Amino acid sequence: MTFSHYEKTRPEHPLPPLQMAEVFGMFSYALDMTEGQPSGHSLRSTWVGAHVAQAIDMPIDMQSELFFSIVLKDIGCSSNAAPVAKLFQTDDITFKRDYKTVDGSLRGTLQFVLNQTARNAGFFTRMKTITKIATNTDQITKDLITTRCERGARIAQQLQFSDRVADGIAALDEHWDGSGAPKRLRGKDIPQAANIALLSQVVDVFHSEHGATAAIEAVTGRSGTWFDPILVKAFVKAADDPAFWLGLRDRDIATRVFALPGAQQTRDVHDDFLDDVAAAFAQVVDAKSPFTADHSSRTAFYADLIAEEIGLSRPHRRWLYRASLLHDLGKLAVSNRILDKAGKLNEEEWTIVRAHPFHSERLLKQITAFQDIASIAGAHHERLDGRGYPYGIGGNEIALETRILTVADVFDALSAHRPYRDALPINDVLAMMDRDIDRAFDGGCVAALKSGLHRIKHRVA
Ligand SMILES: [Fe+2]
Ligand SMILES: [Fe+2]
Repeated sequence: MTFSHYEKTRPEHPLPPLQMAEVFGMFSYALDMTEGQPSGHSLRSTWVGAHVAQAIDMPIDMQSELFFSIVLKDIGCSSNAAPVAKLFQTDDITFKRDYKTVDGSLRGTLQFVLNQTARNAGFFTRMKTITKIATNTDQITKDLITTRCERGARIAQQLQFSDRVADGIAALDEHWDGSGAPKRLRGKDIPQAANIALLSQVVDVFHSEHGATAAIEAVTGRSGTWFDPILVKAFVKAADDPAFWLGLRDRDIATRVFALPGAQQTRDVHDDFLDDVAAAFAQVVDAKSPFTADHSSRTAFYADLIAEEIGLSRPHRRWLYRASLLHDLGKLAVSNRILDKAGKLNEEEWTIVRAHPFHSERLLKQITAFQDIASIAGAHHERLDGRGYPYGIGGNEIALETRILTVADVFDALSAHRPYRDALPINDVLAMMDRDIDRAFDGGCVAALKSGLHRIKHRVA
C-alpha cells in the first residue's frame, strides 16, 4: 500500500524559540473551560497577580515563577470533575464556577450546597444527597481540594517547573488564618505565590460577575482571614491605577499578559519539551472521567503502532503521537454529567459532545507550537462517507494522519470499558471495524492496526 501522496500535512519549517508563557498561557483557556470560568480567567488572574507582585517589589525571577503558578493553578482541576458531578448530582462545570464565589464560611458553604445539589432530582434523592454532604462538608471539601492540588503540583513537576511553582499550585486553597485546605497552613507557612494566586482568582471571579467595587470588597473583606494583609494592601495600591482595570477588561488580555516582565522566559523548541507538554495536557483530559482514564495515551500508542506499520518516518510519527495525545482536549468543555452518563444521551447532550473536536481544534490553533496538529485533532470523528462530525467532510478531505488517529481512537473506545457498556473483546472490535471500512475507516489503517497488534502480541510472547 502507498500513502506517500498524503504525507504533506506536517510542515517542515522549524519553529522560532518558544515563549513558555505563550504555550502555557494559551493552554490555560482549556483549563478555564473545565472550571466553567469565562474564557481568559487564568490569564486575567495572572495579570492581577503580576500587579500585586510588582506592588511588593517581588524579584523578577520570583515573578516568573509566580506567573506559572497562577497560569497553571487549575491544571489539577479536571481530576475532581467526576467526583463533583457524582457526589453533588449536578453539572460539575456550573458547580465549580459558582463555588468560586462562596465566602468559605460554614453557613455560606451549606447554603451553596442546598442551592446546587441534585437540582433536577426528586425531593427524596435531593434530601438524601444534601444530608450526606452536609454531615461531611469539611471532609468532602478537603478530599476534592487534595485531589486537585496534589495532581496539579505533580503535573507541574513533570513539566520540570521548580518546586516553588508546584508549591504555589498545591497550596492555592490555603487561607491566611489556617481555615483553608488541604493542609490548613497558616500565615507565612503558605507559599506567597499561592496566596497571591488565590487573591487573583477572587479578583477575577468577582470582577467578571459583579464589577470592580465588588472585587475590591471581596479582597479587603478577606484580609487576615483568606489573605496576607500585606498582599491586600498591595492589591489596593495596584487597583488605584485605572490602567490596571483597563488591562483586566481588555479582550486581548493574552497580548498584555505575555508582555509582562514575568513572562519573558523563552526556550528553544525541542521535541522532548513538546512531548512533555502534550503528555501533561493528555493527563488533564484523561483525569476528567474515570471512564476515559488513559484513553489519550492508549490512542496515541495505537496511532503510533499504525504509523510504524505504514512506514511513516520517526519525526512524522512523533508529531502524530502528540496530535493523538491532544485529540480530545475539547472534552474539557463537556460536563461529566454527560461524559459519565450511563443512559442514552438526549439531543442537547449529544450536540455538546459533537462539538468537542471543534474545541480541540480551536484551542490547539491558538498555540504556536501545536497549531499544525489542530486540524488533525479537529477531524478525528469525521468519516470517509461524510457522515461524521463536526464538519461532515469525507474522502480525500481527510488526511492520512487523521485516518490513523480515527482508527486508533475508535479501537481504544470500543475495547475499553465505558459507562454505557462493558469492554468488547478485541476480535469483536476488529470485526466491527472491518464492516465499516471505506464508510468510516481507511482499510489500509485498519489492516496496519491488525498487523501492528499481531506484531506486539508476538513480541511480548
Ligand atoms: Fe473524541
Ligand atoms: Fe478520543
